[in-house]
Amino acid sequence: MDKQNSRITHLDIEQIKNYLKDGKIRVCVIGIGRIGLPTALSFANSGLNTTGVDIHLDLINKIKSGEYPLKDEPDYDIIFEKVIKNQKFQATSKIEDVVPNSDVILLSLPTPMNENNVPDYSALKSVGNQLHDLISEGTLIIVESTIEPGFVENELIQIIEGNDKRLIAGKDFGIGVCPETANPGEISTDFAKLPRLVGATDEKTKNIIMEIYHHVFPVDIIPMPDCKTANAVKLTTNVFRDINIAFINELAILFEKLGIDIMTVLEAAKLKYNFQVHYPGAGVGGPCLPVNSYQLLNSAKKFGNDFLKIISAGREINEHMPDHVIELLCQGFDQAKKSIKGSVILCLGVSYKPDIKDIQLSPAEQIINKLKELGANVRIYDPYFKNIQVFDVKTESNLVDALKGSDGVILVTAHKEFHNLEPSFLVSNLKTPIMVDTRGIIEPHDAKKAGLIFRGLGRGSE
Ligand SMILES: NC(=O)c1ccc[n+]([C@@H]2O[C@H](COP(=O)([O-])OP(=O)(O)OC[C@H]3O[C@@H](n4cnc5c(N)ncnc54)[C@H](O)[C@@H]3O)[C@@H](O)[C@H]2O)c1
Repeated sequence: MDKQNSRITHLDIEQIKNYLKDGKIRVCVIGIGRIGLPTALSFANSGLNTTGVDIHLDLINKIKSGEYPLKDEPDYDIIFEKVIKNQKFQATSKIEDVVPNSDVILLSLPTPMNENNVPDYSALKSVGNQLHDLISEGTLIIVESTIEPGFVENELIQIIEGNDKRLIAGKDFGIGVCPETANPGEISTDFAKLPRLVGATDEKTKNIIMEIYHHVFPVDIIPMPDCKTANAVKLTTNVFRDINIAFINELAILFEKLGIDIMTVLEAAKLKYNFQVHYPGAGVGGPCLPVNSYQLLNSAKKFGNDFLKIISAGREINEHMPDHVIELLCQGFDQAKKSIKGSVILCLGVSYKPDIKDIQLSPAEQIINKLKELGANVRIYDPYFKNIQVFDVKTESNLVDALKGSDGVILVTAHKEFHNLEPSFLVSNLKTPIMVDTRGIIEPHDAKKAGLIFRGLGRGSE
């Protein structure tokens, strides 16, 4: 779109449709990490000239040299090659060069929390300040980052408008949200099937955003009454998972004591039409679930401590799981009449979830720190992290070598490579055959038969 005429928020829907069809709308995605890059590539692949902006210079250089940076995110490697070649996509660190020449600005910036579990919106706030100086009349801003309900309405708009109120939201520029809900490792399939929710400060902006997303994604685009409701939906779905996993984790600990196998229970419970299965594990990590629970808790804070007790309880249980994993390991060492101090313990998997290269808030870190406190020598084998430093441990590059000389093994992440682990294979390679399976992969009966000193999380039947 010619910038002089670029007043996308002032166009009518028919004009928007034509501009989209002709590839005349210029898009800027700020923050091209796990979510932002596939998003930017989707916009470019739909025929819109798209520029990714990021402060991570290595990432920009990688992209500029033609290297696809998200190796564990399939399908987008092919799109990446295509849109680099046809010049629909480029990347830069220079926000000031891109924003003034863009019609649509998407924000896919990180929204983590600090060490006190307080949500940290500093990236959005700092880019908001930059946008104040850089946007022009008619620019459309869409926030895809996960934020607390009300953050756009009560904070971000004020930052972008600034004290001078050079441009006013809803009048001079448009702003809305389309919270991103894809699952890392499955972004390509999720982008093709998950509905997108759109909220905005005014109806017209909402309709324009919906039209743009219709053009880019082959999914249902659902209008929400406002930004805060769309953001509330995103948090509700993720916090629902965090709480339900906590419930199953707590049951897992009880069932160990009652001599009941949680996996048998869950398989049977699944048969009931209104039961939605969740599985126990070593903890809940990643950039979303734990953070999202703390975001909702933060929203509730101003109404007193009586709100959302279930979320606090869920967090407490999930954050306790690494301790419980260590307790299971200690039981195994007691049974073997060996001391953990001075032993070699191998962690299988450090990613916070299977089949992705991501250790953000992974429970593996807490497990590894606790092992070190107990005086154990820690080894890590993870197919996504070979021969590098992770959590101050140099990772192994070969599973058999990693097992040899180890006194115990903890299966932390259910990567595909571990699905077919045979107990007899572990017994024949480990120095001492102690194993804790936190992911229900090894059958307790098979483990015992092969001679493993075995503890399975929630597997109280053996
Ligand atoms: N990863 C997920 O599973 C997932 C899923 C859905 C939604 N989200 C949400 O999407 C948002 C982005 O998450 P992500 O996982 O892609 O994060 P990420 O850390 O992978 O990517 C964020 C990118 O933003 C860049 N960045 C940080 N500050 C910047 C600044 N001031 N200017 C320009 N670039 C900057 C970083 O360098 C990084 O490349 C978050 O709000 C997250 O909660 C994440």
